[in-house]
Amino acid sequence: MKNFFITTPIYYVNDIPHIGHAYTTIACDVIARYKRMSGYNVKFLTGTDEHGQKIQEKALSKNITPQELVDDIHLNFKRLWKILNISNDDFIRTTEQRHVKAVQAVFKKLLDQGDIYKGTYSGYYCVPCETYVPENSMGENKTCPQCGRPLKIMEEESYFFKGSKYIPDLIKFYEQNAKAILPEIRYNEIMSFLRGGVHDQSVSRTSLKWGIPVPGDEKHVIYVWFDALVNYMAALGYPDENSDDFKNFWPCVRHMVGKDIIRFHCVTWPLMLLALGINLPAEIIAHGWWTYEGEKMSKTKGNVIDPFKMVEEYGLDQFRYFLMREIPFGNDGNFSESALVGRINSDLANDLGNLLNRTLQMINNYCGAKVPECDNAESDLSTMSEKILTRVDEAMNKYAFDEALKIIWEFISRANKFIDETTPWKLAKENSDESKAKLNYVLLNLYEALRLSGLLIAPFMPRTSQRIYSQLGIEQDPVTMLYKNFKWGNSAGNVIKKSEVLFPRIDLDEWQKAQDAKKAPQNQTQEQEPEHEPEISIDDFRKIELRVGKIISAEEIKKSKKLYKLEIDLGYEKRTVCSGIKNFFKTDELIGKNIILVTNLKPAKLCGIESNGMILAASKKIDGNAEALTLVIPENLDGIPLGSRVS
Ligand code: ME8
Ligand code: MG
Repeated sequence: MKNFFITTPIYYVNDIPHIGHAYTTIACDVIARYKRMSGYNVKFLTGTDEHGQKIQEKALSKNITPQELVDDIHLNFKRLWKILNISNDDFIRTTEQRHVKAVQAVFKKLLDQGDIYKGTYSGYYCVPCETYVPENSMGENKTCPQCGRPLKIMEEESYFFKGSKYIPDLIKFYEQNAKAILPEIRYNEIMSFLRGGVHDQSVSRTSLKWGIPVPGDEKHVIYVWFDALVNYMAALGYPDENSDDFKNFWPCVRHMVGKDIIRFHCVTWPLMLLALGINLPAEIIAHGWWTYEGEKMSKTKGNVIDPFKMVEEYGLDQFRYFLMREIPFGNDGNFSESALVGRINSDLANDLGNLLNRTLQMINNYCGAKVPECDNAESDLSTMSEKILTRVDEAMNKYAFDEALKIIWEFISRANKFIDETTPWKLAKENSDESKAKLNYVLLNLYEALRLSGLLIAPFMPRTSQRIYSQLGIEQDPVTMLYKNFKWGNSAGNVIKKSEVLFPRIDLDEWQKAQDAKKAPQNQTQEQEPEHEPEISIDDFRKIELRVGKIISAEEIKKSKKLYKLEIDLGYEKRTVCSGIKNFFKTDELIGKNIILVTNLKPAKLCGIESNGMILAASKKIDGNAEALTLVIPENLDGIPLGSRVS
């Protein structure tokens, strides 16, 4: 049997899973399911990336160990994969022993053979992305080109990986394997990057504790990326290269990733493998980037799409279908709920749903719910069915999910047209032998078209496929079937079940009303003339000392319903401040936020704690109580140190 190994990136646990993560994982699920149904021995791996600075900081702020933190939050991903009906065979966490062992083995081997050496590193570092940024790729004002956040200068003793030594081998490999990076645009990008030359990479850190220790030099931990990439082999039992899994699934591995992390996958990782003397992955497939209504999704903008919510509102298979159908794989895409609703109503409810309903009703009414016999089941549909299988296969082998679905829908549309052309309701009325035979022929063909459509959509919409098969009265689970066993025309005698609506149609007026109602509160403006304070002079204003600070810790004050105890870093000193914002933020949303503090306010004791200042916030108040609140946050602190005066 042919083997096929597909992997998702292992996701950072500090992020809440959003549609970007759902997209990659669903794409991998679709391909894994498709390959299983095509007769491959498939292994599908996903997991979580659990080390690094951010986790360490967050755990500290919550007063728990990093391990306790990741044990808890990695479950968000497991929960989501369950809800999205993801068929992964394994889930690897970088804190598991099998992974730690593999990473240390890689490190040790490269150290022993001289491909890792010790030196010093200094450079610009992006904490959220856990990556150093070379000066020539920094964004404006020394920001991270990836996430746009300000970079920090870091200097440390570090181990380096002599990846540069293997660049010529890597270039040669890619020249001979132009399909190893998909799509082509990414291949070209990587080739020109490689030809531009690559420096040795720093692969250890002394500035943090939460990572895998360098074997034999424990004050260093291994750089998260050097750690994370090894997961793909750790899950196969590496360093045991003789394990069955390793022998079966390496190097027939396919890494599916977003375009944000292709350099790690197409450069760093293959260089590590070349140094280790291990074969390079068969394919690295990079997909595009989802935006929401044209904008980059980010927590601060509050426009991150929650896949849990989408599934709840629109249904699982509807969501899966939309993500795979809406954009050509590899391209960026814009997530819009109205486009989702459009596809649900037209492609799913109209095209597929109606084909099923109409066909089952006719078999029920005209043939007593039994699929009729017919001598020769050859038709336009049967001819088309053979071509469809091949065309879908071609598309799937290119990871062109949208194209595969388009091809399947061509077939579904053709079947709907077949009903209109053959007018079975007329044949049923005619009552001659000839019309009876024709009717049987038409209904058998339609039944077969549904049986094939149900099979073809199984990788994309497994539950819908199962529902179709159950209504068709087929006991076998379509998800476990093989495409090659499909034969047109041998279903006579099957007894169908009552037809049920597959996809409820969404009423557009009602939907629009619900959307407007959801949006309304965000766009509220203050209509009434507010109460004003008496005029003041600039000197009056100057008496108020406002400074930039950063929230470094936030704790609940048990006795108080409204207050948090905050620790504010002003650069020159740290302050404790009690702030009445408990109803509006969780403590970990506050940590790391830059704020504006009134620093010369007379200290006050609140719930037994001395508060030394007040942070600025805007709020909407009703009867003196804040109903909505937002912090005043400096837009960026480039060149503005903590403690700077605000005027
Ligand atoms: O990078 N559109 O993890 P991560 C499309 N831990 N895909 C998106 C997306 C968007 N808006 N946002 C995220 C890491 N993704 C590392 C990986 S692998 C050895 C280590 C998807 O949690 C996309 O697949 O930041 C992207 O590559 C991945 O999430 C990044 O996940
Ligand atoms: Mg990321």
